[in-house]
Parts: sequence; C-alpha cells; structure tokens
Amino acid sequence: MNVLFIGDVVGRPGRRILKAKLPGLIKQYDIDLTIVNGENAAHGKGITKKLYDELIRAGADVITLGNHAFSKRELLDDINELSHLIRPANLQPTDIGQSTKVMTVKGYKVAISSIMGEVFMNNVSESPYDAMAYILDTVDVDYHIVDFHGEATAEKQTFLHLFKKQCAVIVGTHTHVQTADEAIFDGCAYISDVGMCGVIESILGRDVEEVIDRTLYGHRTHYTIANGPAMLNGVVIKLEHQMATHIQRIHLEEESS
Ligand SMILES: [Fe+2]
Ligand SMILES: [Fe+2]
Repeated sequence: MNVLFIGDVVGRPGRRILKAKLPGLIKQYDIDLTIVNGENAAHGKGITKKLYDELIRAGADVITLGNHAFSKRELLDDINELSHLIRPANLQPTDIGQSTKVMTVKGYKVAISSIMGEVFMNNVSESPYDAMAYILDTVDVDYHIVDFHGEATAEKQTFLHLFKKQCAVIVGTHTHVQTADEAIFDGCAYISDVGMCGVIESILGRDVEEVIDRTLYGHRTHYTIANGPAMLNGVVIKLEHQMATHIQRIHLEEESS
C-alpha cells in the first residue's frame, strides 16, 4: 500500500497548491491513503468544517492537526461530525474529538494517530511517550501511522527510536521546513519534518514584513498569510509485510507568474 503524507497546509496559498497538485500525485504514485496536516488551513491557525470539507474534496482521506487544532472556536460545534479529522492525543482539552482514526485500506487495518511533542509546546496534557504507549495498548492494527507534531528534532528522533518497532510510519510536522533525513529504521519510515504547503518566500507561510514588524517593533499584527508562489511538501511511503519499505520526499512548486 502506498501512503502520501502532506505537511501543514497554510492558508489559501497552501490550499490552492494542494487542490492543484494532489489529484496528480495520487495518480502518479498510485496512492491508497492520503493524510494531510490541516492545522494551519484556516488563515494560518486552525481549521473549520468548510475547510475540512475542502481538503477532503481535494483528496485527503485523513486530516491531522497540531497545536493550532482549536484556534477556530467554531470547530468545537462541528468536530464530532468530522469523522476523518484527528487532533493531538495529548493536547488540552483532551475530551474533544478523536486522536486516532482506524481505517481499512486494501484489506489491512491502519491506525492514524496525532501526537504532540512536549518540548517548546504549550497545553500538553501528558508526554508523547505515554500517549503513544496508550494507543499501542488499546488499538490493535496492522499498521500504526503517527503524525508527531513537534518543534525539537532530538525529541522526534527519541520518539522514533522508542517506537520504531511498533510503528510503520512516524512523520514529523510543525516546523514547516522539510528535512532531508528521510529513512527506514527497523521497518519504520521516518522524517523529522515533512514541511508545509504554503508560500515559498515567507516565514513559515506568514507574511515576511509582518513578522519583522512584530519581532523588531512589537507591533500588534493579524497573522497575514504571505502572497506569492507556493510549494507543496510531503512524503510517499510504501507499506508491505507489516512494515515500511520505502520513503521518498515530495517537493513541488507553483510557477511564478
Ligand atoms: Fe503548522
Ligand atoms: Fe504547529
């Protein structure tokens, strides 16, 4: 089975390139399961039901979140209807929505889980290691796929080496910058960060001037999304015989107009 994992979709430019490129990627790589991190889909912070529907229509089978999961309050009214949306297992409050989605893909049971790191992150309810141990104890499937949403590379690598024998895929998200360390470790496909879908000339998808204004002069800002050609970042992973056998980075860019 071939799995496509696409990193944090940031605002309208991220959604634009996702919609343009995803159908072609699914066809080109013969993808059976598409996972998209949507934590920045709604103007850089959070997601709404409308944008969830938009990402699903674009080809996502499962949408993961991160520290911005609940930034749009309206999501709380709809989250129980959004059956293909998962929020980090260890992000407070923990009693809203689901953090693991179990699906049958090509006859195999696959669990996709969202977990947040605790280094440099806020509102974490328990360690990622305890959260993962609980999932492994309670969810019995052929393949565990984890979106590890964290800031610190050492923490992501620690998580990998603790759980590589039980997980088929551990993909890092949150930094928005794709790393070049993709590899298979004891049958587990890993990359420290898959990167984002957002404007190339930006600061993590956000307008450069605005971030500089805020950083140097402390101006109050609105979190303006950058303008310009966007990039799409992801990985394609091959799963067979209850392990990962191949991981390949994907990086596509829009033409500048
Ligand atoms: Fe993000
Ligand atoms: Fe994040």
